[in-house]
Amino acid sequence: MRLALAETPHRISPKFFYDAAGSALFDRICELPEYYPTRTELALLDRHAQEMASLIGPEADLIEFGAGSATKVRLLLSALQQPRRFVPIDISADHLQGAAAALRRDHPGLDVHPLAADFTRPIQLPALPDGSRARRVGFFPGSSIGNFSPDEAVTFLRQAAELLRGGGLLIGADLVKDPALLHAAYNDAAGVTAAFNLNLLVRANRELGTNFDTTQFAHYAFFEPRLQRIEMHLLSRRTQTVQLGGEAFTVQEGQTLHTENSQKFTVEGFRRLARQAGFAPGPVWTDPKNHFSVHWLAAPQ
Ligand code: AVI
Repeated sequence: MRLALAETPHRISPKFFYDAAGSALFDRICELPEYYPTRTELALLDRHAQEMASLIGPEADLIEFGAGSATKVRLLLSALQQPRRFVPIDISADHLQGAAAALRRDHPGLDVHPLAADFTRPIQLPALPDGSRARRVGFFPGSSIGNFSPDEAVTFLRQAAELLRGGGLLIGADLVKDPALLHAAYNDAAGVTAAFNLNLLVRANRELGTNFDTTQFAHYAFFEPRLQRIEMHLLSRRTQTVQLGGEAFTVQEGQTLHTENSQKFTVEGFRRLARQAGFAPGPVWTDPKNHFSVHWLAAPQ
């Protein structure tokens, strides 16, 4: 946060959204009528679960990146043939423990091994209880890959291709579409996305002792057509001073704190990105309106 305040343009990583309150707000976003990605991806998973399960294969070691409440994986788990283990990875430890407990309740035979970690860093997976190596398959739904910069996305995919060698990755990618639909999805009428964005300041005040006046920042999200991404910012309504660790930082009226990018892809563009990172792209599933895509990417041995 210090760097975000000290440097202009002011920028902070979207991973800081996800404290307990932020994760709960994100779950509410997923239910919003305007936020089409969750619904559309769930329908794709539901419709094509058998086909996806046969690509994943029996006795897989399934790893979910950024699992959150781990709701989508339930559709896969019920189609999979005797999965060996499920490793949900998430930065928000509290959220993860709750999700893991619920999954153990609903899948009594499944070895659920939650990992509280930042999956943008290299990950060491714990060994299977019997020391063997099962076919590893990654699951990265929600188009969270779109919240990385293009360089970060390639780095993440390269690491994933290495981690999943001999297996594959099932990954969601949101598609370029009518900007009006995109705008509505990130500017919902109920103001949940605004609360999610502003929660970053609430979190900084609580955890870092900053004194952001949240009433003096506005949620500001728009589609940037050249870069084909939604940009989310917090816009300062007036020139104001923010205290952090004994230092004072001035934020000018109209300046923004850039909190998130959400890249939108074309199917071919996404396959190109995957190839660049060492994957062999396989089947792709899209909805009839072409709003969202789910890709099977094989990770060569
Ligand atoms: C988690 N991620 C894929 C969401 C997105 O659409 O980029 C985060 C989000 N930000 C605002 N609304 C949802």
